[in-house]
Amino acid sequence: MKTINFAERNTVLNQFVAELRDICVQSDRMRFRHNIRRIGHAMAYEMSKELTYSEKQVRTPLDVASVSTPDDDIVLATVFRAGLPLHEAFLDVFDRAGNAFISAYRYYKDEACQELDVKVEYIASPMLDGKTLILVDPMLATGESFELACKALFTKGRPAKIMLACIIASPEGVAHLESLFPDDDVTLYCAAVDSHLNSRKYIVPGLGDAGDLSYGDKI
Ligand code: URA
Repeated sequence: MKTINFAERNTVLNQFVAELRDICVQSDRMRFRHNIRRIGHAMAYEMSKELTYSEKQVRTPLDVASVSTPDDDIVLATVFRAGLPLHEAFLDVFDRAGNAFISAYRYYKDEACQELDVKVEYIASPMLDGKTLILVDPMLATGESFELACKALFTKGRPAKIMLACIIASPEGVAHLESLFPDDDVTLYCAAVDSHLNSRKYIVPGLGDAGDLSYGDKI
């Protein structure tokens, strides 16, 4: 797997990520979701450079314009619930894409909250054979959700191209996905790679719980 870390470039994307992390800005849930959307738009634009293009003829009122547009048959996939704002952002850009949704939740197997597991319960997806699969999830922590989401998605066919996108990744999560996808035909795009996971498997410095910050606390 190749990893592209957009934080290595000086772009305004870093400003959006800084706001997303900022504890003073996070209390405004609408702004938090809006910043995810701004990040998603910028990432989708950058990732669009890796699609396959061909010239098309477009009739204007005055003549015919030749335009190079993407040919990929894209399916956008995400994991409930934290992935929803990022998914919407990608769908703003890849507006003709098919859509896949997976429900996955983290739970601790022990009282000390050190042993984490992820359970997938639901998948709704079109067939994926020959498609370009873009799986988006804002936080790549252990990599378990990405792994289980991919396994669930592959029951719907084998995509021709796989692109993974997250906003903040941990080194542990990146290593986990590298072991799952040892070849360079899969690319992970992220807006930052942070220092480490804490004992509760949260990314540090990270931003906290992306689902709660987008939609409120859960019981
Ligand atoms: N999910 C989150 O929302 N935050 C983390 O730090 C890890 C997983």
